Amino acid sequence: MSAFLKFQKHLSDELQAIRTAGLYKEERIIASPQSVSIRLKNGKEVLNFCSNNYLGFADDKGLIEAAEKAMNERGYGMSSVRFICGTQDLHKELEASIARFFGTEDAILYAACFDANGGVFEPLLSEEDAIISDVLNHASIIDGVRLCKAVRYRYANADMEDLENQLQAAQAQRFRLIVTDGVFSMDGNVAPVDKIYALAQKYNAMVMVDESHSAGVVGKTGRGTTEQFDLRGKIEILTGTLGKAFGGAVGGFTTGKKEIIELLRQRSRPYLFSNSLPPVVVGAGIHTFQRLEQSNVLQEKLHANTEYFVGQMRSAGFDIKPTQSAICAVMLYEAKLSQDMAFRLLEEGIYVIGFYFPVVPNGQARIRIQLSAKHEQAHLDKCIAAFTKVGKELGII
Ligand SMILES: Cc1ncc(COP(=O)(O)O)c(C=O)c1O
Repeated sequence: MSAFLKFQKHLSDELQAIRTAGLYKEERIIASPQSVSIRLKNGKEVLNFCSNNYLGFADDKGLIEAAEKAMNERGYGMSSVRFICGTQDLHKELEASIARFFGTEDAILYAACFDANGGVFEPLLSEEDAIISDVLNHASIIDGVRLCKAVRYRYANADMEDLENQLQAAQAQRFRLIVTDGVFSMDGNVAPVDKIYALAQKYNAMVMVDESHSAGVVGKTGRGTTEQFDLRGKIEILTGTLGKAFGGAVGGFTTGKKEIIELLRQRSRPYLFSNSLPPVVVGAGIHTFQRLEQSNVLQEKLHANTEYFVGQMRSAGFDIKPTQSAICAVMLYEAKLSQDMAFRLLEEGIYVIGFYFPVVPNGQARIRIQLSAKHEQAHLDKCIAAFTKVGKELGII
């Protein structure tokens, strides 16, 4: 048997095991732009309640025009990393816009937030230091921490007593960095960044918040957790994505204290050894932040939509996780029920996905709904009516 034949059999067995465990992820095919109303490949039009398109920018005309303008004026690709010949004035402008939005000193762009998180720890910390990480942090933070030699501590999700214990245990190290997601994507809860910051002060630690699901959403004007907890300019490191609220294409960033950003430009591997963001993404990004500087109407609409939707779903009798973001987790507990319900909802014209183990803990299956500023009242009402109809049919409410 050749090496590959043996490996091929191993792969087939692995795939079969995933299927048998009911964990195989199928991809539904969309044949329209990303929006609140989308067309599936089979021609069916459905309302989308599961994208990260929080501010509705994914198919926004202004962003598309800005992207076209940047491409026409600055070309398609950069064919370089930033420090060779891949930095245009547009990249510097977008970095300045991001820093202004978050009230930070500087910002650095990456191809994705996965890269921002993957490239933030290793250049800054070494074996003498400590990283204290929430157990529910995003996979990219977990991977980034693995790439760094710092001593690792973990604390239970948003559990401040546990965080305090870990901080006490980490006192022997030189520098301490607490790291948390701003919004935990499966539940929609916001990390208690005020309490984390207070503990950081008490135990001489720094703080990093991944604002991927909170930027554009959390805080009165959507400036994220540092706005919500009145900590603008105080958190040492923020990371985030351009792939959710800010247009939904690709791109990530780290923003915060200027010396941190300066050292990342020198040593962060995904920045040094990966291509620059293309002008099309950067131009649209600049436009996005200009729009958000001019007006908060989208953030306000998103907040109003979320409040209305969650309130109505609770009144209808659904068990909803406490949320302070645009994520609304409808708890169903059983994996099969979450799949059956998502399937029936699609038949009713509502596109949502059931999440179950291992994405969420065993016995905690749910449907996660994500609201957008682009949802109109009629969309929300149609979704609530469909949930109510299917919920009754399946004996959930
Ligand atoms: C908390 C968090 N961090 C990082 C990422 C990765 O972002 P990107 O898609 O830009 O790589 C995500 C996306 O799922 C996320 O939810």
